Amino acid sequence: MLATLEKRIHERFPRYLEALENLIRIPSISFDGFDKNEVIRSAQAVKTLFTNNGFQNVQLLTPPSGRSSVYAELRTKPHNPTILLYAHHDVQPTMREALWESPPFSPEVRNGRLYGRGTADDKAGIILHIAAVTQAVAVFGDKIPNIKFIIEGEEESGSVGLQTLINDNKELLKCDAVIVADNSNFAKGIPSITTSLRGMAAVEVVVKSLKAPLHSGSWSGPIPDPAQALCRMIASLTDAKGQIVIPHFMDGITEPTKEEEDAYDSLGMTEEIFRKDSGMVSTLSLMVDKKDILKSLWRKPSIVVTAMEAGSRTQSGNVLQDSAYARIGIRLAPGMDADVAMLQMIEHLKKHCPLGMDLSLFSEDGANPFTTDISHPYFEMMKEAMTQAYGAPARYIGCGASIPGAQFFRDAFGPIPVLLTGLEDPECNAHGENESLYLKDFEHGILAEALFFGSLHK
Ligand code: BES
Ligand code: MN
Ligand code: MN
Repeated sequence: MLATLEKRIHERFPRYLEALENLIRIPSISFDGFDKNEVIRSAQAVKTLFTNNGFQNVQLLTPPSGRSSVYAELRTKPHNPTILLYAHHDVQPTMREALWESPPFSPEVRNGRLYGRGTADDKAGIILHIAAVTQAVAVFGDKIPNIKFIIEGEEESGSVGLQTLINDNKELLKCDAVIVADNSNFAKGIPSITTSLRGMAAVEVVVKSLKAPLHSGSWSGPIPDPAQALCRMIASLTDAKGQIVIPHFMDGITEPTKEEEDAYDSLGMTEEIFRKDSGMVSTLSLMVDKKDILKSLWRKPSIVVTAMEAGSRTQSGNVLQDSAYARIGIRLAPGMDADVAMLQMIEHLKKHCPLGMDLSLFSEDGANPFTTDISHPYFEMMKEAMTQAYGAPARYIGCGASIPGAQFFRDAFGPIPVLLTGLEDPECNAHGENESLYLKDFEHGILAEALFFGSLHK
């Protein structure tokens, strides 16, 4: 069966690539301030793909934001298990367009990778699911599980409406397992199943000091500078080594199991690899011991200032600014709670706001962390399918990023297996400029999922 499937998928791969390229051409950015109609157009395109491939009950599920998800299904036999396949069709903004070597929404293949916004994150996940199901059913017929698809339209903006959407359509989405194709392989050619995700909480901070900016020579001295005030507030969150010092912030964190620690150690991450993959400048120190790199990435919280503004670089004359802005993002370790962390953060910032600055805080919807045990047989079956498809042993890894849906499915359907797979890799530059997808892993990923479906009836 491996050879048959491999051949079928290989023959059809140019068509899968073309279908993916057509999705990439739609700038389905789900952030506020970007055209929502493009997300809707993207949802329509995904819907058409399902319809053209013969899937049933194809429909848009639209949350209050208007950024539609797409549902479709394939019924095989009532007593077969039902597997829900997740991916998302919305994308991040492009960042600095001038730095793209080819335009973000004009897909282009170079050196075995497809470049474009949303290639790896996560439009490839959509085609992966469709191709895997189509080929699995062609080869194994109605022995494969019943399949349901949910292709979300607002993951990148925090999956704000997804929980309600799942609850409102609980019967429709009801399933025995979920495959989330929105994660990363540990490296190119190394198939991986992710067993933990960090959570996310973000807050926008504005400190205001004046009605309007003033000449810094005429006015500075007696009057506090909002930019420095904000820097002090931000600096108060961590010590010099980046360790978070907000009281009780780290209290609930769950340590990785022995099994997980062993899995991390077996991955052979070194300081050299990590420095090279991340593009750190050579003089830069790590904030953790080199043996703790993966644990720090996957199982500890971190704080990052994702944007900062006080005046502007192009007009930075001698001005005492009237306000300063920062967006602060926190990655939450498994065991932490997004709401609790947000409150602790806000309390801390309020307490450390200096000199009577006028402080405004706007918190965004957070995402809770996620962990899964791997005792359900589907995990080993997926591992085996991946190992065969990629021709390299599959690994269990953690993830420092977040996917709100993973926990929502758990909450809605109980302790069912949630398998996190995906086609990102350390080179893919998701969220940055020149995002790309490694095409060989795309093909192997399709094969792996098709083999997994085939292995379920045995
Ligand atoms: N696909 C990513 C998550 C991811 C990134 C998994 C890298 C593995 C490796 C997802 O689209 C994402 O970016 N999630 C957001 C969620 C947030 C908006 C709540 C994130 O992590 O910032
Ligand atoms: Mn994603
Ligand atoms: Mn993303």
